[in-house]
Order: sequence, then C-alpha cells, then structure tokens
Amino acid sequence: MKALPLALASLLALAGAARADAADPGAPLPPKAETWSFEGPFGTFDRAALQRGFQVYKEVCSACHSLNRIAFHTLADDGGPGFSVAQAKAIAAAYKIPADPNDKGETVDSSGERLTRPGIPADHFPPPFANEEAARASNGGALPPDLSIIVKAREGGPRYVYSILTGFGQKPPAGFKVLANKYYNPYFAGRNISMPPPLTEGTVTFSDGTTASVDQEAHDVVTFLTWAAEPKLEERKRLGFGVMIFMLVLSGLLFLSYRRVWKDAH
Ligand code: HEC
Repeated sequence: MKALPLALASLLALAGAARADAADPGAPLPPKAETWSFEGPFGTFDRAALQRGFQVYKEVCSACHSLNRIAFHTLADDGGPGFSVAQAKAIAAAYKIPADPNDKGETVDSSGERLTRPGIPADHFPPPFANEEAARASNGGALPPDLSIIVKAREGGPRYVYSILTGFGQKPPAGFKVLANKYYNPYFAGRNISMPPPLTEGTVTFSDGTTASVDQEAHDVVTFLTWAAEPKLEERKRLGFGVMIFMLVLSGLLFLSYRRVWKDAH
C-alpha cells in the first residue's frame, strides 16, 4: 500500500506544477487580432501602407535593427512598395555604405572613421552597428534582431510584431517585477523587453498626410516587414489561384472524357 500515497503525491505535484504554469507572471499574452490587407487567398499589400512602413523603418527602427537581406532595387519590384526605379536609386544613394579599400588600401580616414560611399540599387540596407558587440553595447547587452524575416520567424507573425510595438505603456500586474533597464511588454516572452518603446504618436510625419498614431505606425511598419519577409507573396497567391482554376477545368474535362469513354459500357 505504499504505491497509493506515492501516486497521490505525484499527482498533486503535477497539478501544482500546472497551476504554477498557468499563473506564470511572465507568460506572454496571445497577439492582438489585427487584420491585414495581405491576408486570405486574394490578399495584396496596400502600397501606401508599404511606403509609410518603409518610412517608419528608415526613420525609427533602423537606428537599432538591420534589414540586411533587403536590396534597395527590390523597393521598385512588382508586388513591393511600388517605388519607381529612380526613387529606389535615390533612396539607395542617400545611404552611406562602407567603402572598399581605397587606392592606398585604407578603409578608415585619418581620424579613424570608416570610409563610406553612396549606396547603389544593388546594395543591401547597411546595418546600424559595425558588429554584434557594438549592437549589444548600445542596447544594454541585448541584441536587436535583424528584421528581414522577423515576421516569418516568430509565431503569430504580423500580429505578434504589431502587438509588441503597441504593447508598451501598460501597468504591470501587482507584484510583477520589471527588471532594471527593461520595459514591461505583456506580448513578449517573460514580459521584460530590452527595447525601449520605439513608437509614439507623431514619431514620423507621413508625407501622404495619414495621421501618425502609434497603431497606424505599427500597422504600416509591420506591413512593410511582412513584404520584406515574403516579397513574392502576391505572386504566390496569384499563381495559387491560377493553379486552382486550371485544376477545376482539368477535372471538368476529365469527367467529360470519362463519361464518353464509358458511355456504351453500361
Ligand atoms: C533603441 C533601439 C531600438 C529601436 C529604435 C527599435 N528596437 Fe526593436 N529591439 C531592440 C532591442 C534591444 C531588442 C531586443 C529585445 C530583447 O531581447 O529583450 C528589440 C527587439 C525587437 C523585436 C523582437 C522581439 C522578439 O520576439 O525577439 C521586434 C519585432 C522589434 N524589436 C521590432 C522593432 C521595430 C519594428 C522597430 C521600429 C518601429 C524597433 N524595433 C525599434 C531595440 C530597438
């Protein structure tokens, strides 16, 4: 009869663990149910949102986050933000790219500054920091991840990133400890995030006159980052639809020929 109390004790222990888990103060909330133009089988990107989102990345996020898989020329590609080739060229030229060694073999000038050249369409977005150590040193030891595929890399995708960006400023529950140099964000695992709230109302001034609320800025930059993570989304959906139509027509033809072949067999 020793087994029974033991089994009971382990059951109780299990129940206790489950309860502790449910009450884990660091467990993240599920992402907000934001809706997007690019969802569903016919979804497409909202060009104006992509362009505004690019502006938010450029003016805010790029101070800490790289976007190193994205080349400037793709800003003018079909299914993208819809900039003209000339605009993409001008955007590239406004960036400073670390230059190749000059004819004296130098990569830094006399005061130790990295030599740079203007970007060209084939260049990728340059990173804000020279290396990981420099990135961590500026961010209290935390590493701002590259944003090129963040939307694909996180469960919840666009809704997760949107929730993180709009999830600041809430009061932590009584007894929750916000760690030194961290910010409370209930959508982040552990709820203590090293990123300071990046967006406030009017952080950017949209050139198309759209009011720059935090929600708008977040929605637009997430649209842009979704395109960055999946630049061929529209093409994929179009192709998928074409394939469906093709299959339907093919099924119809097969059915007709089946009837014809078996017409006299009955
Ligand atoms: C001042 C620097 C800074 C700025 C500006 C900034 N971030 Fe961050 N971000 C960070 C740091 C640092 C982390 C890592 C947080 C951590 O690990 O606790 C981070 C993390 C993130 C994460 C990842 C959360 C995860 O699941 O790992 C996302 C998404 C993100 N930032 C998006 C953005 C976007 C979009 C912008 C622009 C609107 C932005 N950030 C602006 C510093 C910054």
